[in-house]
Amino acid sequence: MAQFCRDGRSGVTAGSVTDTLGRPLRDLRISVTDRCNFRCVYCMPKEVFGRDYQFLEREQLLTFEEIERLTRIFTAHGVEKIRVTGGEPLLRRNLERLIGMLARIPGLDLTLTTNGSLLAKQAQALKDAGLQRITVSLDSLDNDVFTAMNDVDFPVDRVLAGIEAAAAAGLAPIKINMLVKRGVNERSVVPMARAFRGTGRILRFIEYMDVGHTNGWRMDDVVPAAEIIARINTEMPLEPVEPSYRGEVATRWRYRDGSGEVGVIASVTQAFCRDCTRARLSAEGSLYTCLFATKGHDLRGLLRGGASDAEIAGAIAAVWRVRDDRYSEIRSSETVGLPKVEMSYIGG
Ligand code: GTP
Ligand code: 5AD
Ligand code: SF4
Ligand code: SF4
Repeated sequence: MAQFCRDGRSGVTAGSVTDTLGRPLRDLRISVTDRCNFRCVYCMPKEVFGRDYQFLEREQLLTFEEIERLTRIFTAHGVEKIRVTGGEPLLRRNLERLIGMLARIPGLDLTLTTNGSLLAKQAQALKDAGLQRITVSLDSLDNDVFTAMNDVDFPVDRVLAGIEAAAAAGLAPIKINMLVKRGVNERSVVPMARAFRGTGRILRFIEYMDVGHTNGWRMDDVVPAAEIIARINTEMPLEPVEPSYRGEVATRWRYRDGSGEVGVIASVTQAFCRDCTRARLSAEGSLYTCLFATKGHDLRGLLRGGASDAEIAGAIAAVWRVRDDRYSEIRSSETVGLPKVEMSYIGG
């Protein structure tokens, strides 16, 4: 049952709300654009996301003011963590203005996931606007492997320059997410671990998932987290670390010699739905309660139709209260073919 109160941080009257499995709403991942300048083979394959692909039009996107208003309403429901995503979020013009608006909401962990391609130019402005930390996707240090994966010939050095610029600007911690796909970049696992060990950057390996319906996912393409850890452990011994908070997506490991830690995000082989407190907002203002959802709930219509904060808060609570998603726990050969929303649309 929701408890209603006026939230000191947001000024909105709402309350905490739990779903049918007792999970509260704590994280909101906000996609600010469905466009990306990469065509990663596992996310936006060129055959599908080509010249004729219909991306969202400008007027379909939530404005920064609309995003800020929704964020305040979500925080009144107990959201404590905001992750700005895309597509590629740094393609959204003047993104630092939105970051500034969100950074003024007290008590929020505010972060962003980027492919790093535009980071060298924007890192300082994002930090100045109030961004605290950042996550950069990077699938290999080998330029041939990296360009084959991003499929637009984008050189790895420019992403590395972006990571350096983020560090110089004081964004911390910096996390590096590497998606591992069998036969494509599995040989980059150990070199990546070697390169980032001792740098303070937190490297996390992601199991390849069956998100969307365009990447042709097969279980054979997944490199299980246990195998990733075993490969690193052979050369650089590891030991497990307790999660830093309940429901942490990554399982943490540290080097036994004290030179840092790595994480594995094992949503295929060790599903973590039981503690999933994440909601996702698409760039056009649809609310999704799971990465694998088939349909969203339109909040933009409410915003633009003149609904009050309380009415929008009520609509969000109504969606969350009936939530029963646990896709990764029930994944099977039958679920793989179900229609799903694309990762580039909903954010990672
Ligand atoms: P921190 O706030 O730094 O702890 O980030 P995080 O652990 O929440 O992870 P991040 O947002 O960097 O997500 C990394 C990757 O994990 C994403 O790109 C997805 O591939 C996967 N992931 C994140 N959240 C979910 C989720 O709710 N379900 C599933 N199945 N995968 C997820
Ligand atoms: N499985 C797992 N992670 C994915 N990402 C994109 N597509 C997939 C997928 N099929 C991740 C990227 C990036 C983040 C934005 O989403 O690796 O780190
Ligand atoms: Fe690659 Fe991220 Fe762009 Fe998808 S959104 S194509 S994972 S860079
Ligand atoms: Fe949450 Fe859905 Fe991911 Fe499970 S599959 S952790 S319910 S987003």
